[in-house]
Amino acid sequence: MKTNEVRFGAAKDQLIIFDTTLRDGEQSPGASMTKEEKVRIAKQLERMRVDVIEAGFPAASNGDFESVKAVADVIKDSTVCGLARALEKDIARAGEALRGANSGRIHTFIATSPIHMEKKLRMTPDQVVEQAVKAVQWARQWTDNVEFSPEDAGRSDLDFLCRVLEAVIAAGARTVNIPDTVGYNMPWQFGGLIKNLREKIPNSDQAVFSVHCHNDLGLAVANSLSAVLNGARQVECTVNGLGERAGNASLEEIVMAVRTRQDMFSCDSRIDTTQIVPASRLVSGITGFAVQPNKAIVGANAFAHESGIHQDGVLKHRETYEIMRAEDVGWSTNKMVLGKHSGRNAFKTRLKELGIELDSEEAWNAAFARFKDLADKKHEIFDEDLHALVSDEATFATQDRYKLVSLKVCSETGEIPHAVVVLSDNGVEKRAQADGGGPVDAAFKAIESLVKSGSDLTLYSVNNITSGTDAQGEVTVRVNRGGRIVNGQGADTDIVIASAKAYLHALNKLASDETRAHPQV
Ligand code: KIV
Ligand code: ZN
Repeated sequence: MKTNEVRFGAAKDQLIIFDTTLRDGEQSPGASMTKEEKVRIAKQLERMRVDVIEAGFPAASNGDFESVKAVADVIKDSTVCGLARALEKDIARAGEALRGANSGRIHTFIATSPIHMEKKLRMTPDQVVEQAVKAVQWARQWTDNVEFSPEDAGRSDLDFLCRVLEAVIAAGARTVNIPDTVGYNMPWQFGGLIKNLREKIPNSDQAVFSVHCHNDLGLAVANSLSAVLNGARQVECTVNGLGERAGNASLEEIVMAVRTRQDMFSCDSRIDTTQIVPASRLVSGITGFAVQPNKAIVGANAFAHESGIHQDGVLKHRETYEIMRAEDVGWSTNKMVLGKHSGRNAFKTRLKELGIELDSEEAWNAAFARFKDLADKKHEIFDEDLHALVSDEATFATQDRYKLVSLKVCSETGEIPHAVVVLSDNGVEKRAQADGGGPVDAAFKAIESLVKSGSDLTLYSVNNITSGTDAQGEVTVRVNRGGRIVNGQGADTDIVIASAKAYLHALNKLASDETRAHPQV
């Protein structure tokens, strides 16, 4: 594994953006991703000029190892990072996975709060210091680019934290990351912690201080920004704020806060902000985690003005009510783009303008064929439709076990809804029919009678992608089988078909997912 000196030794006024969507984000229940999905997201993160991509936890499972390896092999401009507990076998696994990286980093961690050391690790503070130092030394045998995190730093004793961090910096950690693992800190307190650590640790100038905040009290972004004001120069974050429980600090909010308030911050990131909305859509499409309409920066309403007074103000002078420009974060100003008569070239050009790249000519052809189908049903194709179309295309990977061949539903006033479904199960066509409380219920019952997944449906939601009755519906489902939770998504102008696609997407994940270890357990 090579170490990329430029990225590694970032300028003092550069805020390093460390994205952990593929690792901490993936720890959200149901957000697990396939290797191909991780590679697609990693390429978008690279396009967005993220400095460090944490691609996964290689010791968690063979699937995670292969995903980190695949990301490390294709990403050239960002550093690719693998997480490892402070164990020699975990670190070796991360080192192996990152072997092909142009610039690789090993991120190792051990808990330092009294409650974690005593109840979880059952280790004394002295043992924890010793293990942390060994972990950094093991990691240094693989790369110079080593990051260390004292897990649950937000609830750790300050003097003990200073002792651990001084020791790991002396052992060769070049980034020390301070996690507020349970989202417990207040912004002024967390900023104070970073200031104190930097002042009290004698060798603190030999490492970049990083922060990693969880959002349990809705303060992850505020805590991260407070840390930046107090000298942190790396922020760990995720697209759409995805992550364990209430999530991690959201990348788009951190990046735009720092960029918009340059009067407050003495640093800035290298992020190409026009790639933010495409990244948000890609992550939400792949994970099935919809973005709430009022979410800052990437929510559908983030730049919509409803009140007449606001609309009037914006029309007269945009800055009366807007502190950022929608197009600067990747919302397109050109809304109506393509139609039935648009050719392959226009289609490809528009997708590229939206930051969407497909891997092969085959993928372009398949997407174009679906675009033509959609254009037959829907007069005007908007950017949102194109995003959904491409996510939907990627939803059904060629290796997926189940594919929807056809679906017929009968729904009539006073009659019991009925569905007839034909699926391909590993290439063999199977047919089933069922009654239901409604057409979606009937379709799902027919599918389940063929798949026999034994799972429970715990979430079903429909969003219209654009307005109008000919709009595509985007359906998200979540299913749970024995504690294994997966999400699925599907889009179509017919919401019953979109629902069936979403359900099959989730069932395919259930059929293929292997169990993985959790880094914090
Ligand atoms: O939240 C946390 O403490 C983590 C560490 C592994 C950095 O995710
Ligand atoms: Zn975390």
